Amino acid sequence: MIRIALIPGDGIGPDVLREARRVLDAVAAAGLAELSFEEFPHGADHYLATGETLGESTFVSLRDDFDAILLGAVGDPRVPDNRHARDILLGLRFRLDLFINFRPARLRSPRLSPLAGADRPVDFVIFRENTEGMYSGAGGTIRAGTPNEVAVSECFATHFGVERIVRAAFEYAQHTGRTRVTLGDKANAIPHVYGLWRRVFDQVAEEYPDIESEKRYVDALVMDLVRRPERFSVIVTDNLLGDILSDLAAELVGGMGLAPSANYNPDGGALYEPVHGSAPELVGTGTANPMGAILSAALLLEHAGATDASARVDAAVDAALDAGVETADLGGTSTTEEVGEWIAGRIAEDL
Ligand code: NAD
Ligand code: IPM
Ligand code: MN
Repeated sequence: MIRIALIPGDGIGPDVLREARRVLDAVAAAGLAELSFEEFPHGADHYLATGETLGESTFVSLRDDFDAILLGAVGDPRVPDNRHARDILLGLRFRLDLFINFRPARLRSPRLSPLAGADRPVDFVIFRENTEGMYSGAGGTIRAGTPNEVAVSECFATHFGVERIVRAAFEYAQHTGRTRVTLGDKANAIPHVYGLWRRVFDQVAEEYPDIESEKRYVDALVMDLVRRPERFSVIVTDNLLGDILSDLAAELVGGMGLAPSANYNPDGGALYEPVHGSAPELVGTGTANPMGAILSAALLLEHAGATDASARVDAAVDAALDAGVETADLGGTSTTEEVGEWIAGRIAEDL
């Protein structure tokens, strides 16, 4: 039994998570996996109504009572400082020590590429460090609101934190037959933190002589990802650079609506979510693409050991794309719900 906590969250989060749930229900009905669900109300509405972002007892339950969390999105214009989203999403990443943010980018069809000469097999994964960097929250503001205001946000890296994410990237490369790992950093301008990254990267790389390793300044890396994305295989980078690179990566293979992600610790704990946010402008339009959420559910199944179920979901998404059952962001005319229903139906049919 895979015990799944659902946090639909804000904006289009509930819309896309409803479809991911529909697909998971189809997986369970087909006997491909045993699943149980519990839904949590946490998000902007809950915060505005109760003042609670993510309470201690909820955190403990999410940690102890479930095998995985599946989250829609958090972020709402009524909470301009984004406090609830930081407590919920970043809070879970930090407190559960989900140090790997795994964000795959594979071009499923040449027509989804925004690039000229699109018939190239783009297929790389980002290993984003998920517990350090600019996201620590350390820092502060003095003389707030005056012309003399000073604001500091501290960026930190630890040898331990860098080593474990770099090692995770090389291990993944080794186990999946990928032959190159690229580090994205900015050591030329920010020598302390990224100098540590470079040294640790080189140390770990030595243990994997069969895997090519390369270090790239992130500005040139971004340039090259657009110019020749097909040459990249595994990219490892820090929290902020990984956040930025993963939206670019999504766009290279069909857009935000299609991109899944996994936040996990190999020793336990996992949170799955589409890369996209709550897209408030799409709320109520029925046009949010649920495929990123559905593919995040596929990653959940895969990591939980239901590999056949995961492959079926992935194949059903490909089949929907082949059949043109897709939302407007991909050029289609289907609604969020129609896409979810079609994919769920496909899983039932394939038996
Ligand atoms: P966003 O990802 O919500 O939207 C960026 C662009 O992608 C928009 O044009 C949007 O319309 C489009 N888009 C996003 N998801 C889509 C989908 N499923 N189908 C079709 N198009 C889609 O990013 P943003 O506008 O910068 O952020 C909106 C809010 O979401 C903010 O509050 C932000 O903090 C939050 N956010 C949350 C998460 C998360 O929960 N994991 C991730 C990113 C942003
Ligand atoms: C993401 C999001 C989050 C991040 C935000 C909502 C805090 O952009 O998951 O990519 O920056 O990590
Ligand atoms: Mn992001």
